[in-house]
Amino acid sequence: MLPGQPTGVFTTARPTFGAALDDFLNRRPAAQQPIEFPHNIHIGKEIACDFCHEGVARGAVAGLPSIRTCMICHDAIATDRPRIQQIAALRDKGLDLAWQRVYGFSNEDHVRFNHAPHIRAQVDCATCHGNMAEQTVAQRSVEHTMGFCVNCHNERRAPVDCLACHF
Ligand code: HEC
Ligand code: HEC
Ligand code: HEC
Ligand code: HEC
Ligand code: HEC
Repeated sequence: MLPGQPTGVFTTARPTFGAALDDFLNRRPAAQQPIEFPHNIHIGKEIACDFCHEGVARGAVAGLPSIRTCMICHDAIATDRPRIQQIAALRDKGLDLAWQRVYGFSNEDHVRFNHAPHIRAQVDCATCHGNMAEQTVAQRSVEHTMGFCVNCHNERRAPVDCLACHF
């Protein structure tokens, strides 16, 4: 058996023994981003979160920006900086930035999450994602355990039945 190939022995839910072990130990590889995107600079310039995370108030998924969103500003702003020139060169080749996800659940947890009701209920982004004004690329600074969700749902009288969050 080649390394990284399905073993089929540990569990059919995970493709490899390594993946099953990582999942079991709650170990995730740190995200590797294509460029070091500075949240701190953009939030310092008072650019709203939903300029780049367009879906956050509307539905389940906040969304990550495409290179076209970056170039709305960076066709004109900071065009002399190396990282901006790198982005412009990618765009000129018709490529996008392949952002890796930082937050999320493993499929086995069968969790359903929806941003919109939280934004309507005025739960701050920082409650669930930490202070992004102090981060460059996003770090997983808040652990989204079941207790984290359920404690607040109890306090705020939001639904706590299993099927509110699980499918
Ligand atoms: C609404 C406008 C806006 C959007 C959209 C935007 N930026 Fe920026 N960005 C800025 C401003 C303003 C600065 C600060 C420029 C300065 O230092 O004068 C900046 C700075 C930067 C810098 C730091 C440049 C340096 O080395 O000093 C990087 C890197 C960067 N942006 C990447 C991105 C990426 C990647 C995207 C898309 C995901 C993006 N930006 C989207 C306005 C924007
Ligand atoms: C109640 C907690 C909570 C709040 C409040 C919250 N988030 Fe999230 N966010 C999450 C969870 C949980 C995930 C992972 C969801 C998944 O993978 O199904 C996530 C994922 C994301 C993602 C990446 C995946 C996606 O949805 O596209 C972005 C970007 C994001 N959040 C931005 C924001 C912004 C911006 C705000 C504030 C306007 C915000 N979040 C408020 C819990 C929250
Ligand atoms: C100018 C664009 C821009 C703005 C404004 C912005 N972000 Fe982001 N955000 C990004 C990009 C690009 C990524 C992907 C790189 C990374 O993970 O840092 C990202 C990633 C994230 C993630 C990680 C999502 C995941 O699971 O992969 C969170 C959480 C997040 N942003 C929250 C916020 C919050 C909260 C605000 C406002 C306070 C905000 N962002 C403002 C561009 C932006
Ligand atoms: C800081 C408080 C807080 C945290 C943390 C929180 N929630 Fe919520 N959640 C709320 C509030 C408030 C509502 C809105 C209830 C309403 O609309 O009446 C809500 C609504 C929801 C809904 C919609 C329920 C429905 O049927 O209308 C889902 C799904 C949900 N949350 C899942 C989660 C998950 C999963 C997590 C953890 C990753 C989480 N929440 C963390 C406060 C929170
Ligand atoms: C408010 C949201 C929410 C509610 C309500 C909720 N869960 Fe969860 N549950 C989660 C989240 C988020 C995770 C993933 C935790 C992680 O990845 O660490 C989870 C994980 C789990 C797991 C996997 C093991 C673990 O603890 O990580 C089981 C089993 C589970 N939930 C069962 C239930 C049952 C049974 C109920 C009803 C009594 C319930 N959940 C209600 C959010 C919720």
